Amino acid sequence: MIFLNIQRITKKYIMEVIIQPTREAAALLTAKIIAAEVRKNPSTVLGLATGATVEPVYSNLIEMHHKEGLDFSLCKSFNLDEYVGLSGDHPGSYRYFMNSHLFDHINIDKRNTHVPNGMASDIEAECLQYEEAIWGAGGISLQLVGIGMDGHIGFNEPMSSMQSRTRVKQLNPVTIRQNAGYFGGPDKMPRRAITMGVGTILDSERCLMLATGAAKAEILAEAVEGPFCARVTASALQWHRRAIVIVDEACASHLKNREYYDWSFNHEPHWAAFRN
Ligand code: GLP
Repeated sequence: MIFLNIQRITKKYIMEVIIQPTREAAALLTAKIIAAEVRKNPSTVLGLATGATVEPVYSNLIEMHHKEGLDFSLCKSFNLDEYVGLSGDHPGSYRYFMNSHLFDHINIDKRNTHVPNGMASDIEAECLQYEEAIWGAGGISLQLVGIGMDGHIGFNEPMSSMQSRTRVKQLNPVTIRQNAGYFGGPDKMPRRAITMGVGTILDSERCLMLATGAAKAEILAEAVEGPFCARVTASALQWHRRAIVIVDEACASHLKNREYYDWSFNHEPHWAAFRN
């Protein structure tokens, strides 16, 4: 019996890297993996991310909803993070991003979509309740993440504990510069955010990272092939039980083991349905 359990656990533990020719192809593959999860388990719990990188993932999912009847009516979702001090109707907030880029265009019940409340009067209680809500929903089945220029996932800035849970983080100046465009300049950017912790993300059943573009090639290679370290919190995916990293050619340029990654994607039976 113990032997069987060990077999089941070890079978699942794997990190895979998939390189796609273009940003569009990488986003489409990411959307297909999410869609397959929703089709397999209609009441799945999705972990969702924001940022320019994932926008085309959401437009693909919207198209699949309209053209193929991809049904989100029973899904639940939890977003990674939200800025402190922004309400959901602020165009820079992640609630606003999610509504306008996904939720308003699919048949998900908005009451089942969760984004941390950046306006909560008791932020600590909000963080705790967010963790409890994830647990209450049975945990996240598939977590989508991007990567920041400083290697963060969610808003887990460098030197976040790899065991951290949902909490408030002070944003890195690198992040403030990266995201300032959404606010009309760094001076207008919030300085703090509520974010799922690295430990929260590590608890998800599967974690799907999407990274595209040459600007992230170096930090992506550090996260995937560098040491597991709190300086680059995306490296935590190396510790995840079932991580899938999808990149485009431009973002893959610093990876050393790409022959193996390509070989695995082209030969592993579980990817057969996803190869063109
Ligand atoms: C923000 C989010 C991250 C996201 C990152 C990348 O910092 N908190 O979750 O991965 O942006 O954004 P972009 O895709 O715009 O580069």
